[in-house]
This record gives sequence, C-alpha cells and structure tokens, in this order.
Amino acid sequence: MIVLKWWDVLQVLEFANYAQFATVSAGGGGGGGGGMAVPAVRTIRVRGVLNEQRAVMFSTDSRSDKMKDLSANPHCELCWFFPLSKEQFRISAYATWIDSATTDSKLQAIRSQQWKELVLPTRSLFDAAPPGTVMDRNTKLGDLDKYEAQPQSPHIPSPNFVIVLVHPITCDHLTLPPSGMVDPKKVLHHDGVLKPARQQRRWKHAVAKSTPATATATATTGSGGGAAATAYEWIVTELNP
Ligand SMILES: Cc1cc2nc3c(=O)[nH]c(=O)nc-3n(C[C@H](O)[C@H](O)[C@H](O)COP(=O)(O)O)c2cc1C
Repeated sequence: MIVLKWWDVLQVLEFANYAQFATVSAGGGGGGGGGMAVPAVRTIRVRGVLNEQRAVMFSTDSRSDKMKDLSANPHCELCWFFPLSKEQFRISAYATWIDSATTDSKLQAIRSQQWKELVLPTRSLFDAAPPGTVMDRNTKLGDLDKYEAQPQSPHIPSPNFVIVLVHPITCDHLTLPPSGMVDPKKVLHHDGVLKPARQQRRWKHAVAKSTPATATATATTGSGGGAAATAYEWIVTELNP
C-alpha cells in the first residue's frame, strides 16, 4: 500500500499557503491570562517545507509577541482546514528559528532567499516601529514612512527578520464526508486512495524518533541552527474520528 505522508497531501491541496499558528503565551497583564499561560493563535503565510526536516517555514518579526511566546516555550500547533476536500491537518510541533545570529550558512541562505522574495512594503515593516506598539500619529514623518522612503536592500535581511521552522511531532489528519458538489478526485487520502470517504476518517502521523527535550535546548539557545530532530520516520495509525 502506498502511504502518503501529511506533507505529500498538503502539497497537492489548494489553499495550503495560509495556516493558523498557535503558541502558548506567558499570559498575565493585558492578555487577560491573569498570570496563567494562555493560548494565542494567528494566521501565518506558509513559505515552504524544508525537505530534510519536514519543517514548515514562515517569516516573522523578532519583536513580535509570537517570538516572545516561542522563546519561553517552543511548543506550538499549526492547523489547516481545506474546504474543497473537507480535510483538517493539525500539527503538533516545536519551533526553532533562523535569525541574524544563526551561524549555519545553509540556514542563513534560506533566510536571505526568503527576504529577497518579500515585496518592498513588507520588507520596510521589519525596520519600522515594533509590531503591536501604539502608533504615534502626531509624528511628522512616521517610522514606516521614513523607511518606505529608503531603498531597502533585497540582499541584506533586516536584523528583525526571522524564519521560524515548525518541526512536526504529530500530525492529526481528519477527513469529513464530501458534500454533493465536491469533486471526488479532490479527496486524496493519506493511503493513496483517490476516492471520497463515506464517513469521517482520522489518522495520526507520528514522528518515530523526536526528542522535545532536544527541541527545547536548541530553541532556547536562540536560533534554528542544528535543530533537526534525530530522525524523520513516520508511523501512521488510523484513529476513531
Ligand atoms: C493572511 C494573513 C497572513 C499573515 N501572515 C503572517 C506571517 O507570515 N507572519 C507573521 O508574523 N504574521 C502574519 N500575519 C499577521 C499575524 O496573523 C498576526 O496578526 C501578527 O503576526 C501579530 O501576531 P503576534 O502579536 O501574535 O505575534 C498574517 C495575517 C494574515 C491575515
């Protein structure tokens, strides 16, 4: 039997570019957590999957709240829902990242490439006022305007530009029965069967050798560096939906 892994399935689905990314926030203060850890979820633009690691990449600002969350706790989740095929992928993971301090040249090349692919207005944001701070409308020339007036180098990433690598530990894949209008060919099961399910089905894809302790150690040292888990063997188990 052909066993398609979650990343193969994701690659053939439309709308895989955007996902919901959840972190655990330290809470307290303004977040309403009253000092307790609270979840924080937001949309991110998926920039690709690193082949050797199956790590899902996205870019962000080192000064953002999500980076504060990940620095304190690298555990996170990614979630996609695909309305055409009626599938949900929910990836439990840990994050590392490539930042200006990363010494691995291959990883730094990935960061530079991603920087080049940004449009100028997006690049400008990385050197403007920190995300989430109160905007000062009284300033004659706001930070953003100032930076938009300067030509940003497409070759040298801003020090605030970070590539987050989301390293999957498990993938929970749920398929719902298609409605009448769905093209049956769009329903691609992880086991390679190109036909619609008559009922809900659910699979767990688990990486066989992954050590969250290692993940914590690498992530808290600051950057994505040698963050690869030891092996990427996947075990697929069908679950009750
Ligand atoms: C369609 C869409 C795509 C987004 N992509 C990203 C992204 O790739 N990286 C990012 O940091 N924020 C992205 N954002 C903004 C985040 O959802 C979020 O509002 C912002 O990063 C602040 O989150 P934080 O304060 O929890 O760090 C995107 C928002 C939308 C609506």
